[in-house]
Amino acid sequence: MKAIILYDSRSAAGSTEDVVDSIGLSLVESGFYVEKAKCTAIADYRFVKGFDLVVLGAPVYNFVVASQLLGAFIHGNLKKSLKSKKVALFLICGSSEPMAALLYLPQLKMHLMRNKILAEKIFAPDALSDGTVDSFVEEVLIQYHKEPKSRALSEKWTDEAQEWFQSMPSFMQGTFKTMAEEYAEEMGYKEITLEVLAEARDNLGGT
Ligand SMILES: Cc1cc2nc3c(=O)[nH]c(=O)nc-3n(C[C@H](O)[C@H](O)[C@H](O)COP(=O)(O)O)c2cc1C
Repeated sequence: MKAIILYDSRSAAGSTEDVVDSIGLSLVESGFYVEKAKCTAIADYRFVKGFDLVVLGAPVYNFVVASQLLGAFIHGNLKKSLKSKKVALFLICGSSEPMAALLYLPQLKMHLMRNKILAEKIFAPDALSDGTVDSFVEEVLIQYHKEPKSRALSEKWTDEAQEWFQSMPSFMQGTFKTMAEEYAEEMGYKEITLEVLAEARDNLGGT
């Protein structure tokens, strides 16, 4: 299991760095190989595809989530690179949790509409002292391992087919996955593409 923590902060050794290192350590202790990377808005984020879990986090400055992480979504290819990834989010700020959930968290979540968000947390700047970081990691791990294995898509599914699958209502996914995989097997297709899914739908009489 490989995890990466992508974060931003204006401070060289501030509260965000401390929280990132604490999350990283807990994940390592839970069996993950962990890397961390400080975001820059213009960067190539395709490397995140190699990780099973992506933790995104940043502080808030002047009512806005730190600019390099937001910029990576707006100007870089982070959003595209996170396709089908399991993601966990955290923010660090001085505001109360309800205020931050209303004002700041949506600034990140609007870019993650198609991702499975395992857990999200708003930390106070002194989060390390109050145990909230540990409970966040615990929640991430519970949700990570809870993922229904039967719905995990194999390498055969192309990125586009996986994205389409993730956009389906979850109650339909189990049946649809079995149907699509059996159809591809029967037809001898090595890849499950959008075209294969459309063909399966036509041949099997779906709408
Ligand atoms: C210049 C500045 C602006 C800030 N603006 C906000 C804000 O608008 N809302 C908020 O809730 N917290 C705000 N904070 C609090 C920071 O989010 C908090 O101190 C955070 O821990 C800073 O992370 P860092 O130590 O990694 O820089 C601000 C802090 C600074 C230094």
